[in-house]
Amino acid sequence: SPPSVVLNTGREMPVLGLGTYKLCGPEAVFQAVDAALAAGYRAFDSAAVYRNEADLGRALRELLPKYGLTREDVFITSKLSPKDQGEKAMKGALHSLSQLDLGYIDLYLIHWPGTQGLPVADQRNPGNRAQSWLRLEELHGQGKLRAIGVSNYTAAHMRELMQSCRVPPALLQVEFHPRLCQLELRSLCKEHGVCFQAYSSLGKGELLADPLINEVANSCKRTPAQILLRWAVQQGVPVLPKSSNPDRIQKNTEIFDFSLRDADMDRLSALDCGHRFCWDPSEVA
Ligand code: A2P
Repeated sequence: SPPSVVLNTGREMPVLGLGTYKLCGPEAVFQAVDAALAAGYRAFDSAAVYRNEADLGRALRELLPKYGLTREDVFITSKLSPKDQGEKAMKGALHSLSQLDLGYIDLYLIHWPGTQGLPVADQRNPGNRAQSWLRLEELHGQGKLRAIGVSNYTAAHMRELMQSCRVPPALLQVEFHPRLCQLELRSLCKEHGVCFQAYSSLGKGELLADPLINEVANSCKRTPAQILLRWAVQQGVPVLPKSSNPDRIQKNTEIFDFSLRDADMDRLSALDCGHRFCWDPSEVA
């Protein structure tokens, strides 16, 4: 199996997980989970807003025995819907637990710093974030959420949370790839013992056409996706590539048997220009 990192809870998390955004419908989820377990994935990243928690849970309950695995062998992440931020946080998290129906969730994240359904100005309200965190702390204390963390938080949101929390966040999941190196958030996480995890390592697939990434891929005899994933894990950053294609699901695991040269790491990191393929959370900071 792929290597793991140790979270500040003392528990391990695989550095490679299957992203499941836009993976929808029982058959598609089942096929992807089957291919992923066969390829050695032991981590799966879902969210309430992906609307696939129930399908993911069902696929795992059915498929784990096929691979001689139990619940304890896999690491499941899900996230609180931005529409449940604040007052509805307990209900939202309990809904994720019941949809997945896997007993507990390994890691549960606040998906977004704002509150969906409010005008942007009102989304800046830190009270809702604080209330969600209290509820997550409560469920963490009950053992239902083994680790808790946040996603799409800016440095300002992180500082606000670090000042008020009782249980510190185990992890921050944000967009991360060579065009968005997130230097400030990475050093903040390092300083506070928070695991920094990447999403959209492939830039939603759009970075795969980048000329420099292709040049490095050709010189290493690897695919552009493997270069992007290797660039992250070689810096100690866990990744969550999404694919619904069994062949690409397998290919995306083949990143632990080669290294990028320092010069290539530096050339890729020099692509940093603050470019986002996904939403910018600073609008609610
Ligand atoms: P597909 O599901 O058809 O494989 P990201 O994780 O950055 O959001 O990127 C996910 C996108 O990249 C999806 O559209 C996925 O499409 C595509 N993708 C994932 N792995 C690969 C790969 N190895 N080669 C090409 N495209 C990939």
